[in-house]
Amino acid sequence: MVQSDSGIVQMSPLLECRQVSKQYGSQARALSDISFSVRKGEFVAVIGPSGAGKSTLLRCINRMIESSGGDIVFDGAPVTKLKRGELKQLRTKIGMIFQHYNLVDRLTVIENVLHGRLGYKSTFAGIFGLYSKEEKERAMGILSALGLEEHMYKRCDQLSGGQKQRVGIARALVQEPKMLLCDEPIASLDPNASKVIMDHLKSISQTMGITVLINLHQVETALKYSDRIIGVNKGRIVYDGTPRGVDTTVLSHIYGGARADELHALQGGQHAG
Ligand SMILES: Nc1ncnc2c1ncn2[C@@H]1O[C@H](COP(=O)(O)OP(=O)(O)O)[C@@H](O)[C@H]1O
Ligand SMILES: [Mg+2]
Repeated sequence: MVQSDSGIVQMSPLLECRQVSKQYGSQARALSDISFSVRKGEFVAVIGPSGAGKSTLLRCINRMIESSGGDIVFDGAPVTKLKRGELKQLRTKIGMIFQHYNLVDRLTVIENVLHGRLGYKSTFAGIFGLYSKEEKERAMGILSALGLEEHMYKRCDQLSGGQKQRVGIARALVQEPKMLLCDEPIASLDPNASKVIMDHLKSISQTMGITVLINLHQVETALKYSDRIIGVNKGRIVYDGTPRGVDTTVLSHIYGGARADELHALQGGQHAG
């Protein structure tokens, strides 16, 4: 953070991607020349058709997969150059939320949430589930804030999809992350559960200052909740701007003509530019 003479506090970006590319084997590039940066506390949705490269982008950012070129900087750390130990530390700062929750179904809610602390532990402490009183209290506090206090000792396979996703959010938050990467977190949920999840994510970003980068299939939801939209088509960014700026032309660049008209009709045309 830099305090300028005018007293305005300038934030350096939390995340910066510079000309990131990804090629799987000999296939066409899944990502080409992806450049953007995200400030602390921003809520950014990545939208685009299936196969556009949204999941690939998120996975490159926390190095679940390796990018083929370009640079990624997160919180001052050169992500693409980090060694194993440094990578473990980086990942504590980045919470991941998945479409299919990625919980251990036969374990309880609180046990799943405490797994979010594993990045801070030695293998030994992790294997024996050695969590401190503070860690347990923190996990319980987060679960209560997400409306899951009555479910803490239930096995995860007894929960609804929306409840499971809240456990996923709790597990990410117990890490004390600076950013959440959410890959289609509401794609398997009904509209009511989706709203609960989106409202929680929005409030987490606003009240805790946690940056959210979220892949969404639902354009309307993306426009409603986000500060900013990044539109991706065939591995390239074709739009990066405000939700208000997403008009029929932009939608056609992101989704192609026919699908864009369909989406525009669905929105009742209120985003026409
Ligand atoms: N593990 C993989 N191996 C090979 N190709 C992949 C793999 N994962 C994704 N792809 C390809 O990369 C492209 C982008 O996929 P993906 O990032 O999953 O897109 P999206 O999340 O936007 O649907 C697609 O063409 C997809 O088939
Ligand atoms: Mg995907």
